[in-house]
Amino acid sequence: MNSLPPLSNLETRDVESLLHPYTPIHRLRSIGAMVMERGAGVHVYDTRGRAYIEGMSGLWCAGLGFGDEEMVEAAIEQMRTLPFYHVFGAKSTEPAIELAEKLKEIAPMPVSRVLFTSSGSEANDTQVKLAWYYNNALGRPNKKKIISRVKAYHGVTVMAGSLTGLPANHLNWDLPVDRVLHADCPHHYRYAKDGETEVEFVSRLANSLRELIEREGPDTIAAMIAEPVMGAGGVIVPPKDYFPAIQPILEEHDILFIDDEVINGFGRTGNWWGCQTLGMKPTTISAAKQLTAAYAPLGAVLVPEEIYQACVDNSAAAGTFGHGFTYGGHPLGCALGVKAIEIYQKRDILGRVRALAPVFAARLTRIAEHPLVGETRFCGLVGGAELVADKATKRPFDPKQGVAAQLSRFVENHGAILRSLGDTIAFCPPMIITEAELNELFDRFERALADTEAWVHKEGLRA
Ligand SMILES: Cc1ncc(COP(=O)(O)O)c(C=O)c1O
Repeated sequence: MNSLPPLSNLETRDVESLLHPYTPIHRLRSIGAMVMERGAGVHVYDTRGRAYIEGMSGLWCAGLGFGDEEMVEAAIEQMRTLPFYHVFGAKSTEPAIELAEKLKEIAPMPVSRVLFTSSGSEANDTQVKLAWYYNNALGRPNKKKIISRVKAYHGVTVMAGSLTGLPANHLNWDLPVDRVLHADCPHHYRYAKDGETEVEFVSRLANSLRELIEREGPDTIAAMIAEPVMGAGGVIVPPKDYFPAIQPILEEHDILFIDDEVINGFGRTGNWWGCQTLGMKPTTISAAKQLTAAYAPLGAVLVPEEIYQACVDNSAAAGTFGHGFTYGGHPLGCALGVKAIEIYQKRDILGRVRALAPVFAARLTRIAEHPLVGETRFCGLVGGAELVADKATKRPFDPKQGVAAQLSRFVENHGAILRSLGDTIAFCPPMIITEAELNELFDRFERALADTEAWVHKEGLRA
Protein backbone atom coordinates (compact mmCIF):
# COMPACT_ATOMS: atom_id res chain seq x y z
CA MET A 1 0.00 0.00 0.00
CA ASN A 2 1.22 3.53 -0.74
CA SER A 3 2.34 5.44 2.33
CA LEU A 4 -0.21 8.05 3.31
CA PRO A 5 0.57 11.77 2.91
CA PRO A 6 0.92 13.73 6.17
CA LEU A 7 -2.30 15.28 7.50
CA SER A 8 -2.99 18.91 6.56
CA ASN A 9 -3.74 21.48 9.24
CA LEU A 10 -7.50 21.13 8.68
CA GLU A 11 -7.27 17.34 8.75
CA THR A 12 -5.34 17.46 12.02
CA ARG A 13 -7.94 19.79 13.54
CA ASP A 14 -10.60 17.35 12.37
CA VAL A 15 -8.94 14.37 14.04
CA GLU A 16 -8.57 16.31 17.28
CA SER A 17 -12.13 17.59 17.40
CA LEU A 18 -14.66 15.26 15.77
CA LEU A 19 -16.00 11.87 16.75
CA HIS A 20 -16.73 10.40 13.31
CA PRO A 21 -19.68 8.05 12.78
CA TYR A 22 -19.06 4.77 10.96
CA THR A 23 -15.31 5.28 10.90
CA PRO A 24 -12.48 3.07 12.19
CA ILE A 25 -11.70 5.79 14.71
CA HIS A 26 -8.88 3.72 16.23
CA ARG A 27 -7.00 4.37 12.96
CA LEU A 28 -8.23 7.87 12.14
CA ARG A 29 -5.04 9.57 13.27
CA SER A 30 -3.10 7.78 10.53
CA ILE A 31 -5.67 7.81 7.73
CA GLY A 32 -7.19 11.26 8.40
CA ALA A 33 -10.56 12.41 7.11
CA MET A 34 -11.26 13.64 3.60
CA VAL A 35 -12.46 17.19 4.17
CA MET A 36 -15.06 18.21 1.58
CA GLU A 37 -15.14 21.80 0.46
CA ARG A 38 -17.81 22.13 -2.21
CA GLY A 39 -20.01 20.29 -4.65
CA ALA A 40 -21.47 20.87 -8.11
CA GLY A 41 -23.74 18.48 -9.99
CA VAL A 42 -22.61 14.92 -9.27
CA HIS A 43 -19.12 16.04 -8.20
CA VAL A 44 -17.66 16.95 -4.82
CA TYR A 45 -14.27 18.58 -4.25
CA ASP A 46 -12.03 18.12 -1.22
CA THR A 47 -9.72 20.66 0.39
CA ARG A 48 -6.72 19.06 -1.34
CA GLY A 49 -8.28 20.14 -4.65
CA ARG A 50 -9.33 16.65 -5.76
CA ALA A 51 -12.64 16.05 -7.58
CA TYR A 52 -14.81 12.97 -7.13
CA ILE A 53 -17.98 11.63 -8.70
CA GLU A 54 -20.20 11.15 -5.64
CA GLY A 55 -21.38 7.64 -6.46
CA MET A 56 -23.30 7.30 -3.18
CA SER A 57 -25.26 10.60 -3.26
CA GLY A 58 -23.43 11.27 0.01
CA LEU A 59 -25.37 8.91 2.28
CA TRP A 60 -27.98 7.74 -0.28
CA CYS A 61 -29.60 11.14 0.02
CA ALA A 62 -28.35 13.87 -2.33
CA GLY A 63 -30.54 12.66 -5.19
CA LEU A 64 -30.41 16.04 -6.96
CA GLY A 65 -26.64 16.26 -6.61
CA PHE A 66 -24.92 19.37 -5.28
CA GLY A 67 -25.53 23.06 -5.87
CA ASP A 68 -28.98 22.89 -7.44
CA GLU A 69 -29.82 26.58 -7.85
CA GLU A 70 -33.57 26.11 -7.48
CA MET A 71 -33.05 24.35 -4.15
CA VAL A 72 -30.62 27.04 -3.02
CA GLU A 73 -33.09 29.79 -3.96
CA ALA A 74 -35.93 28.02 -2.12
CA ALA A 75 -33.72 27.78 0.98
CA ILE A 76 -32.75 31.46 0.86
CA GLU A 77 -36.35 32.53 0.44
CA GLN A 78 -37.53 30.43 3.37
CA MET A 79 -34.65 31.59 5.59
CA ARG A 80 -35.55 35.22 4.85
CA THR A 81 -39.27 34.72 5.42
CA LEU A 82 -39.32 32.49 8.49
CA PRO A 83 -36.09 30.71 9.47
CA PHE A 84 -37.75 28.75 12.24
CA TYR A 85 -41.11 27.96 13.57
CA HIS A 86 -42.58 24.78 14.95
CA VAL A 87 -45.76 22.76 14.82
CA PHE A 88 -46.20 22.13 18.57
CA GLY A 89 -49.18 23.42 20.55
CA ALA A 90 -51.45 23.97 17.54
CA LYS A 91 -48.98 26.21 15.71
CA SER A 92 -48.11 25.62 12.07
CA THR A 93 -46.32 26.96 9.00
CA GLU A 94 -47.26 26.99 5.35
CA PRO A 95 -44.28 24.89 4.19
CA ALA A 96 -45.21 22.15 6.70
CA ILE A 97 -48.84 22.16 5.53
CA GLU A 98 -47.85 22.13 1.88
CA LEU A 99 -45.38 19.28 2.29
CA ALA A 100 -47.85 17.19 4.30
CA GLU A 101 -50.42 17.65 1.54
CA LYS A 102 -47.88 16.73 -1.14
CA LEU A 103 -46.89 13.58 0.71
CA LYS A 104 -50.52 12.55 1.09
CA GLU A 105 -50.95 13.08 -2.65
CA ILE A 106 -47.99 10.95 -3.75
CA ALA A 107 -48.27 8.27 -1.02
CA PRO A 108 -48.87 4.72 -2.29
CA MET A 109 -51.68 4.12 0.21
CA PRO A 110 -54.30 6.33 1.93
CA VAL A 111 -52.58 8.60 4.44
CA SER A 112 -54.49 10.49 7.08
CA ARG A 113 -51.82 12.71 8.64
CA VAL A 114 -48.07 13.37 8.34
CA LEU A 115 -45.84 13.60 11.40
CA PHE A 116 -42.48 15.26 10.75
CA THR A 117 -39.17 14.34 12.39
CA SER A 118 -35.58 15.50 11.87
CA SER A 119 -34.16 12.18 10.69
CA GLY A 120 -34.85 8.63 9.54
CA SER A 121 -33.99 7.18 12.95
CA GLU A 122 -36.51 9.45 14.61
CA ALA A 123 -39.12 8.48 12.03
CA ASN A 124 -38.60 4.78 12.82
CA ASP A 125 -38.51 5.39 16.57
CA THR A 126 -41.79 7.24 16.17
CA GLN A 127 -43.23 4.34 14.19
CA VAL A 128 -42.57 1.98 17.09
CA LYS A 129 -44.09 4.41 19.59
CA LEU A 130 -47.14 4.83 17.38
CA ALA A 131 -47.55 1.05 17.09
CA TRP A 132 -47.53 0.84 20.90
CA TYR A 133 -49.82 3.85 21.29
CA TYR A 134 -52.20 2.30 18.74
CA ASN A 135 -52.42 -1.03 20.51
CA ASN A 136 -52.92 0.66 23.85
CA ALA A 137 -55.81 2.64 22.38
CA LEU A 138 -57.30 -0.64 21.14
CA GLY A 139 -56.94 -2.25 24.58
CA ARG A 140 -54.23 -4.70 23.45
CA PRO A 141 -51.47 -3.98 25.99
CA ASN A 142 -49.48 -7.10 25.10
CA LYS A 143 -49.31 -6.56 21.34
CA LYS A 144 -46.01 -4.67 21.39
CA LYS A 145 -43.16 -6.65 19.80
CA ILE A 146 -41.66 -5.47 16.53
CA ILE A 147 -40.25 -7.81 13.91
CA SER A 148 -37.27 -6.55 11.95
CA ARG A 149 -34.78 -8.57 9.90
CA VAL A 150 -31.16 -9.65 10.02
CA LYS A 151 -29.08 -7.07 8.06
CA ALA A 152 -31.83 -4.44 8.23
CA TYR A 153 -30.82 -0.83 8.73
CA HIS A 154 -33.31 1.45 10.42
CA GLY A 155 -31.05 3.95 12.18
CA VAL A 156 -29.18 4.28 15.44
CA THR A 157 -31.36 5.69 18.22
CA VAL A 158 -32.01 3.18 21.00
CA MET A 159 -35.08 1.73 19.30
CA ALA A 160 -34.07 2.28 15.66
CA GLY A 161 -30.64 0.80 16.49
CA SER A 162 -32.42 -2.20 17.99
CA LEU A 163 -34.45 -2.65 14.80
CA THR A 164 -31.23 -2.49 12.80
CA GLY A 165 -29.92 -6.02 12.33
CA LEU A 166 -26.18 -5.42 12.02
CA PRO A 167 -23.59 -6.51 14.61
CA ALA A 168 -21.68 -3.19 14.80
CA ASN A 169 -24.88 -1.45 15.91
CA HIS A 170 -25.45 -3.90 18.75
CA LEU A 171 -22.02 -4.98 19.98
CA ASN A 172 -21.17 -3.14 23.21
CA TRP A 173 -24.16 -0.81 22.76
CA ASP A 174 -26.43 -2.98 24.95
CA LEU A 175 -28.79 -3.42 21.99
CA PRO A 176 -31.19 -4.70 20.86
CA VAL A 177 -33.63 -3.82 23.63
CA ASP A 178 -36.55 -6.10 24.52
CA ARG A 179 -39.56 -6.41 22.26
CA VAL A 180 -37.48 -6.57 19.06
CA LEU A 181 -37.24 -9.77 17.00
CA HIS A 182 -35.09 -10.30 13.91
CA ALA A 183 -36.49 -12.49 11.14
CA ASP A 184 -34.49 -13.95 8.22
CA CYS A 185 -32.74 -11.78 5.69
CA PRO A 186 -34.18 -12.30 2.17
CA HIS A 187 -30.79 -12.62 0.48
CA HIS A 188 -30.82 -15.69 -1.72
CA TYR A 189 -27.13 -15.63 -2.67
CA ARG A 190 -25.98 -15.66 0.97
CA TYR A 191 -28.72 -17.51 2.81
CA ALA A 192 -30.24 -20.04 0.39
CA LYS A 193 -29.49 -23.67 1.15
CA ASP A 194 -27.54 -25.68 -1.42
CA GLY A 195 -29.66 -26.08 -4.55
CA GLU A 196 -32.59 -24.12 -3.09
CA THR A 197 -34.43 -22.13 -5.79
CA GLU A 198 -35.62 -18.57 -5.15
CA VAL A 199 -39.19 -19.85 -4.96
CA GLU A 200 -38.24 -22.47 -2.35
CA PHE A 201 -36.17 -19.92 -0.47
CA VAL A 202 -39.07 -17.46 -0.29
CA SER A 203 -41.42 -20.16 0.84
CA ARG A 204 -38.98 -21.22 3.60
CA LEU A 205 -38.64 -17.62 4.80
CA ALA A 206 -42.41 -17.13 4.80
CA ASN A 207 -42.85 -20.34 6.81
CA SER A 208 -40.17 -19.31 9.23
CA LEU A 209 -41.85 -15.91 9.71
CA ARG A 210 -45.15 -17.64 10.37
CA GLU A 211 -43.45 -19.94 12.90
CA LEU A 212 -41.81 -16.97 14.62
CA ILE A 213 -45.18 -15.21 14.94
CA GLU A 214 -46.92 -18.33 16.21
CA ARG A 215 -44.11 -19.13 18.64
CA GLU A 216 -44.10 -15.63 20.12
CA GLY A 217 -47.90 -15.36 19.96
CA PRO A 218 -49.59 -13.10 17.37
CA ASP A 219 -51.23 -11.17 20.19
CA THR A 220 -47.73 -10.06 21.30
CA ILE A 221 -46.61 -8.70 17.92
CA ALA A 222 -47.50 -5.15 16.92
CA ALA A 223 -45.62 -4.59 13.69
CA MET A 224 -43.03 -5.70 11.20
CA ILE A 225 -40.63 -3.14 9.71
CA ALA A 226 -38.82 -3.57 6.40
CA GLU A 227 -36.90 -1.64 3.78
CA PRO A 228 -38.12 -2.64 0.29
CA VAL A 229 -34.49 -2.86 -0.98
CA MET A 230 -32.22 -3.23 2.05
CA GLY A 231 -29.55 -0.53 1.91
CA ALA A 232 -26.80 -0.44 4.52
CA GLY A 233 -27.03 -4.22 5.05
CA GLY A 234 -25.42 -4.55 1.60
CA VAL A 235 -27.99 -3.46 -1.01
CA ILE A 236 -30.08 -6.60 -0.83
CA VAL A 237 -32.87 -6.83 -3.38
CA PRO A 238 -35.33 -9.47 -2.18
CA PRO A 239 -36.72 -12.06 -4.61
CA LYS A 240 -39.78 -10.65 -6.38
CA ASP A 241 -42.16 -13.03 -4.59
CA TYR A 242 -40.85 -12.21 -1.12
CA PHE A 243 -43.18 -9.37 -0.10
CA PRO A 244 -46.27 -10.94 -1.71
CA ALA A 245 -45.46 -14.09 0.31
CA ILE A 246 -45.06 -12.44 3.71
CA GLN A 247 -47.78 -9.81 3.34
CA PRO A 248 -50.77 -12.15 3.94
CA ILE A 249 -49.09 -13.63 7.03
CA LEU A 250 -48.92 -10.18 8.60
CA GLU A 251 -52.49 -9.38 7.60
CA GLU A 252 -53.74 -12.68 8.98
CA HIS A 253 -52.20 -11.87 12.36
CA ASP A 254 -53.20 -8.21 12.43
CA ILE A 255 -49.60 -7.02 12.35
CA LEU A 256 -48.88 -3.49 11.04
CA PHE A 257 -46.41 -3.29 8.15
CA ILE A 258 -43.98 -0.37 8.54
CA ASP A 259 -42.25 0.46 5.28
CA ASP A 260 -38.87 2.12 5.75
CA GLU A 261 -38.52 4.21 2.58
CA VAL A 262 -35.65 6.30 3.94
CA ILE A 263 -33.37 5.19 1.06
CA ASN A 264 -35.91 3.77 -1.39
CA GLY A 265 -38.31 6.69 -1.49
CA PHE A 266 -38.59 9.52 -4.04
CA GLY A 267 -37.59 7.76 -7.22
CA ARG A 268 -34.55 5.74 -6.25
CA THR A 269 -36.01 2.43 -7.50
CA GLY A 270 -37.77 4.02 -10.51
CA ASN A 271 -41.09 4.59 -8.71
CA TRP A 272 -41.98 7.15 -6.07
CA TRP A 273 -41.73 4.42 -3.44
CA GLY A 274 -39.72 1.22 -3.24
CA CYS A 275 -42.81 -0.62 -2.03
CA GLN A 276 -44.37 -0.02 -5.47
CA THR A 277 -41.34 -1.60 -7.15
CA LEU A 278 -41.12 -4.54 -4.75
CA GLY A 279 -44.83 -5.37 -4.41
CA MET A 280 -45.13 -4.46 -0.74
CA LYS A 281 -48.35 -3.01 0.72
CA PRO A 282 -47.45 -0.93 3.77
CA THR A 283 -49.67 0.26 6.57
CA THR A 284 -47.39 3.21 7.24
CA ILE A 285 -44.20 4.72 5.78
CA SER A 286 -41.02 6.31 7.17
CA ALA A 287 -39.31 8.79 4.84
CA ALA A 288 -36.21 11.03 5.05
CA LYS A 289 -33.05 11.60 2.95
CA GLN A 290 -34.28 12.24 -0.63
CA LEU A 291 -37.40 13.81 0.90
CA THR A 292 -35.39 17.06 0.79
CA ALA A 293 -32.68 15.72 -1.56
CA ALA A 294 -30.55 16.18 1.60
CA TYR A 295 -30.51 19.98 1.28
CA ALA A 296 -31.82 20.10 4.86
CA PRO A 297 -32.50 17.43 7.50
CA LEU A 298 -36.07 16.16 7.62
CA GLY A 299 -37.94 12.91 8.22
CA ALA A 300 -41.61 12.04 7.99
CA VAL A 301 -44.04 9.39 9.17
CA LEU A 302 -47.06 8.84 6.92
CA VAL A 303 -49.82 7.93 9.35
CA PRO A 304 -52.91 5.96 8.21
CA GLU A 305 -56.39 6.77 9.50
CA GLU A 306 -56.62 3.92 12.03
CA ILE A 307 -53.39 4.94 13.75
CA TYR A 308 -54.38 8.59 13.60
CA GLN A 309 -57.69 7.79 15.31
CA ALA A 310 -55.82 5.92 18.04
CA CYS A 311 -53.66 9.02 18.55
CA VAL A 312 -56.80 11.13 18.89
CA ASP A 313 -58.26 8.73 21.47
CA ASN A 314 -55.07 8.52 23.54
CA SER A 315 -54.58 12.28 23.40
CA ALA A 316 -58.08 12.77 24.70
CA ALA A 317 -57.11 10.64 27.70
CA ALA A 318 -53.76 12.37 28.31
CA GLY A 319 -54.89 15.87 27.43
CA THR A 320 -52.32 16.19 24.63
CA PHE A 321 -50.48 14.19 21.96
CA GLY A 322 -47.29 13.68 23.96
CA HIS A 323 -44.73 13.40 21.16
CA GLY A 324 -42.76 15.70 18.86
CA PHE A 325 -39.26 16.92 17.95
CA THR A 326 -38.27 20.60 18.07
CA TYR A 327 -37.07 20.48 14.46
CA GLY A 328 -39.68 18.03 13.14
CA GLY A 329 -41.45 20.14 10.53
CA HIS A 330 -38.71 22.81 10.44
CA PRO A 331 -39.83 25.31 7.79
CA LEU A 332 -36.48 25.13 5.97
CA GLY A 333 -36.68 21.33 5.63
CA CYS A 334 -40.35 21.50 4.64
CA ALA A 335 -39.80 24.24 2.05
CA LEU A 336 -36.97 22.17 0.57
CA GLY A 337 -39.13 19.04 0.66
CA VAL A 338 -41.83 20.84 -1.31
CA LYS A 339 -39.24 22.11 -3.79
CA ALA A 340 -37.53 18.72 -4.15
CA ILE A 341 -40.84 16.99 -4.94
CA GLU A 342 -41.69 19.74 -7.41
CA ILE A 343 -38.31 19.21 -9.12
CA TYR A 344 -38.70 15.40 -9.14
CA GLN A 345 -42.03 15.96 -10.92
CA LYS A 346 -41.19 18.70 -13.37
CA ARG A 347 -37.80 17.30 -14.39
CA ASP A 348 -39.26 13.77 -14.57
CA ILE A 349 -36.59 12.34 -12.28
CA LEU A 350 -38.45 9.01 -12.07
CA GLY A 351 -38.29 8.82 -15.88
CA ARG A 352 -34.54 9.50 -15.75
CA VAL A 353 -34.01 6.72 -13.21
CA ARG A 354 -35.99 4.31 -15.38
CA ALA A 355 -34.06 5.32 -18.48
CA LEU A 356 -30.68 4.92 -16.76
CA ALA A 357 -31.55 1.71 -14.88
CA PRO A 358 -30.72 -0.61 -17.83
CA VAL A 359 -27.27 1.01 -18.21
CA PHE A 360 -26.69 0.73 -14.46
CA ALA A 361 -27.82 -2.92 -14.54
CA ALA A 362 -25.65 -3.74 -17.56
CA ARG A 363 -22.52 -2.30 -15.93
CA LEU A 364 -23.15 -4.16 -12.68
CA THR A 365 -23.91 -7.38 -14.55
CA ARG A 366 -20.54 -7.12 -16.27
CA ILE A 367 -18.81 -6.46 -12.94
CA ALA A 368 -20.29 -9.71 -11.60
CA GLU A 369 -17.95 -11.58 -13.96
CA HIS A 370 -14.87 -10.25 -12.19
CA PRO A 371 -12.99 -12.94 -10.18
CA LEU A 372 -13.24 -10.90 -6.94
CA VAL A 373 -17.01 -10.37 -7.25
CA GLY A 374 -19.42 -13.01 -6.00
CA GLU A 375 -22.66 -11.25 -6.84
CA THR A 376 -23.94 -7.87 -7.99
CA ARG A 377 -27.41 -6.57 -7.17
CA PHE A 378 -29.39 -3.64 -8.48
CA CYS A 379 -32.79 -2.01 -8.58
CA GLY A 380 -33.39 1.36 -10.26
CA LEU A 381 -30.29 3.40 -9.42
CA VAL A 382 -29.19 1.57 -6.29
CA GLY A 383 -26.85 -1.38 -6.45
CA GLY A 384 -24.05 -3.32 -4.87
CA ALA A 385 -21.11 -5.57 -5.71
CA GLU A 386 -20.26 -8.23 -3.11
CA LEU A 387 -16.62 -9.27 -2.95
CA VAL A 388 -15.58 -12.86 -2.29
CA ALA A 389 -12.27 -14.60 -1.72
CA ASP A 390 -13.53 -17.63 -3.63
CA LYS A 391 -16.18 -17.25 -6.30
CA ALA A 392 -17.01 -20.98 -6.52
CA THR A 393 -17.63 -21.49 -2.81
CA LYS A 394 -18.77 -17.87 -2.08
CA ARG A 395 -16.21 -17.77 0.71
CA PRO A 396 -15.89 -14.19 1.95
CA PHE A 397 -12.61 -12.50 2.74
CA ASP A 398 -11.58 -12.40 6.37
CA PRO A 399 -13.20 -9.15 7.63
CA LYS A 400 -9.88 -8.21 9.27
CA GLN A 401 -8.32 -7.93 5.79
CA GLY A 402 -10.67 -5.04 4.97
CA VAL A 403 -10.72 -5.80 1.25
CA ALA A 404 -13.92 -3.88 0.42
CA ALA A 405 -12.70 -0.89 2.45
CA GLN A 406 -9.42 -1.02 0.53
CA LEU A 407 -11.37 -1.13 -2.74
CA SER A 408 -13.28 2.00 -1.74
CA ARG A 409 -9.94 3.75 -1.11
CA PHE A 410 -8.72 2.73 -4.57
CA VAL A 411 -12.01 4.08 -5.95
CA GLU A 412 -11.19 7.42 -4.31
CA ASN A 413 -7.73 7.38 -5.90
CA HIS A 414 -9.50 7.11 -9.26
CA GLY A 415 -11.77 10.07 -8.52
CA ALA A 416 -15.02 8.58 -7.27
CA ILE A 417 -16.72 7.94 -3.95
CA LEU A 418 -18.43 4.63 -3.21
CA ARG A 419 -19.07 3.07 0.16
CA SER A 420 -18.02 -0.32 1.50
CA LEU A 421 -20.67 -2.03 3.61
CA GLY A 422 -19.14 -5.22 4.95
CA ASP A 423 -18.11 -7.15 1.82
CA THR A 424 -20.26 -5.07 -0.48
CA ILE A 425 -19.48 -1.88 -2.35
CA ALA A 426 -22.63 0.20 -2.73
CA PHE A 427 -23.61 2.39 -5.68
CA CYS A 428 -26.30 5.05 -5.27
CA PRO A 429 -25.47 7.95 -7.61
CA PRO A 430 -27.42 11.20 -7.70
CA MET A 431 -30.54 10.62 -9.80
CA ILE A 432 -29.54 13.58 -12.02
CA ILE A 433 -26.43 11.74 -13.24
CA THR A 434 -26.01 11.61 -17.03
CA GLU A 435 -25.35 8.37 -18.88
CA ALA A 436 -21.79 9.53 -19.66
CA GLU A 437 -21.13 10.32 -15.98
CA LEU A 438 -22.60 6.99 -14.93
CA ASN A 439 -20.32 5.15 -17.35
CA GLU A 440 -17.38 7.19 -16.09
CA LEU A 441 -18.23 6.20 -12.51
CA PHE A 442 -18.18 2.52 -13.48
CA ASP A 443 -14.98 2.93 -15.53
CA ARG A 444 -13.29 4.38 -12.46
CA PHE A 445 -14.70 1.59 -10.31
CA GLU A 446 -13.40 -1.07 -12.71
CA ARG A 447 -9.90 0.46 -12.57
CA ALA A 448 -10.07 0.36 -8.78
CA LEU A 449 -11.23 -3.25 -8.92
CA ALA A 450 -8.18 -4.10 -11.03
CA ASP A 451 -5.97 -2.35 -8.42
CA THR A 452 -7.69 -4.34 -5.68
CA GLU A 453 -7.10 -7.59 -7.50
CA ALA A 454 -3.39 -6.78 -7.81
CA TRP A 455 -3.28 -5.78 -4.12
CA VAL A 456 -5.08 -8.96 -3.00
CA HIS A 457 -2.64 -11.00 -5.05
CA LYS A 458 0.40 -9.14 -3.68
CA GLU A 459 -0.78 -9.49 -0.09
CA GLY A 460 -1.70 -13.17 -0.63
CA LEU A 461 -5.22 -12.65 0.72
CA ARG A 462 -7.06 -15.28 -1.26
CA ALA A 463 -5.15 -18.25 0.04
C1 LIG B 1 -33.30 2.55 5.56
C2 LIG B 1 -32.84 3.55 6.56
N1 LIG B 1 -33.63 3.83 7.60
C3 LIG B 1 -33.26 4.73 8.54
C4 LIG B 1 -32.05 5.37 8.46
C5 LIG B 1 -31.66 6.32 9.54
O1 LIG B 1 -31.74 7.61 9.07
P1 LIG B 1 -30.92 8.77 9.83
O2 LIG B 1 -29.48 8.48 9.62
O3 LIG B 1 -31.43 10.02 9.14
O4 LIG B 1 -31.33 8.73 11.25
C6 LIG B 1 -31.21 5.12 7.39
C7 LIG B 1 -29.91 5.80 7.27
O5 LIG B 1 -29.09 5.48 6.45
C8 LIG B 1 -31.60 4.17 6.42
O6 LIG B 1 -30.80 3.85 5.40
